[in-house]
Formats: sequence, structure tokens, C-alpha cells
Amino acid sequence: MKDLLRLKTSLTEEIETALNEQIKREAHASSAYLAMASWCEQHGFEYSAGYFFKQAEEERAHMLKIFKHVLDLGGNAVSPDVSMIQLEFDSFRAVFEQALENEIAVTQSINRIVGKAHQVQDYTTVAFLQWFLQEQVEEEYVARRALELFDVIGEEGVGQFMIDKQIPKITYGDSATE
Ligand code: FEO
Repeated sequence: MKDLLRLKTSLTEEIETALNEQIKREAHASSAYLAMASWCEQHGFEYSAGYFFKQAEEERAHMLKIFKHVLDLGGNAVSPDVSMIQLEFDSFRAVFEQALENEIAVTQSINRIVGKAHQVQDYTTVAFLQWFLQEQVEEEYVARRALELFDVIGEEGVGQFMIDKQIPKITYGDSATE
């Protein structure tokens, strides 16, 4: 039965596995952002909490996009099991440091899948993942700008609350006007 199902998909087993791992990573990213939203809300950083809630939704949308891509090609999309979510952070800044680190790891992982897809001439998946590569450029950019605020504004006095207020204002393309 498994062999019959395999005949129905143009995905190689290697790419199908890699895409399922990415589905898991996106689901993990969504849950990680939810944990960051919770931490920020509980520490009085409501704008950042809102930002992380939005990020959590975006990551879920990414997960679904890949999930559907696998199914559209006749593959087996596996509902992800998410665990090991970091719930505690040493500081407000540490939340954003972790967010940037997570995004860089996601970019590297998508790059690896694009590389593998090239190797097996799965250009459908190569083309499909182009959108994700651009999305990562934007997400890394925003995460980096958020972290820069800690140095630009400083954390003394009301600094952290000023940083918090600026977080939702960061949009991709800011640098073009500066
Ligand atoms: Fe979908 Fe930002 O990883």
C-alpha cells in the first residue's frame, strides 16, 4: 500500500521528509512566539506581546502553506508534534535575542531544503520555497531592528517601556528611508 501511495507523488522521499521537518519547525516557531507573547504580557510589555501574537499566527500560516504543498503533490503531510518550547526568559532583551536566533535557524533550514530540492531536480519545491526565503529576509530584518532598539534607546529608567512601544512600528523597508 505504501508503494502505491508513493507512486502518486512527485516528491522524493528525502524532500517529503525535509518538508515535514520544516512543518514541524514552523509549528515550533509558532508555539515559541506564543510563549514569548505570554512572557511579555505578564511582564507588562503589551505591545511586544501583541507583536509576538501576530508572529505566532504568521508561523502557523507558514506551517499550513507547507502542509498543503506536500498534500497538493500527493505526499504525506504529517501533523506536527511540538515540544521543548522555551517558556522562561532571563530578560526582556533575551526574548528578542531568542526570536532572532530562531529566525536565523529557520532561514538556514529553508536554504538547506532548497539545496536538496536542486540536487533532486524538484524545481516545483524550489519555486515554492522562494516565497519563504523572501519572508525570512523580512522576518530577520524586523527581529534585528527590534534588538537594535535595546542599544539605541537603552534599558535604563523607562527605556524598556519605550522600546516596547516602538516594537509594533518596525516594518520591513525602514532602512530605505534612513
Ligand atoms: Fe516561518 Fe519565520 O519562520
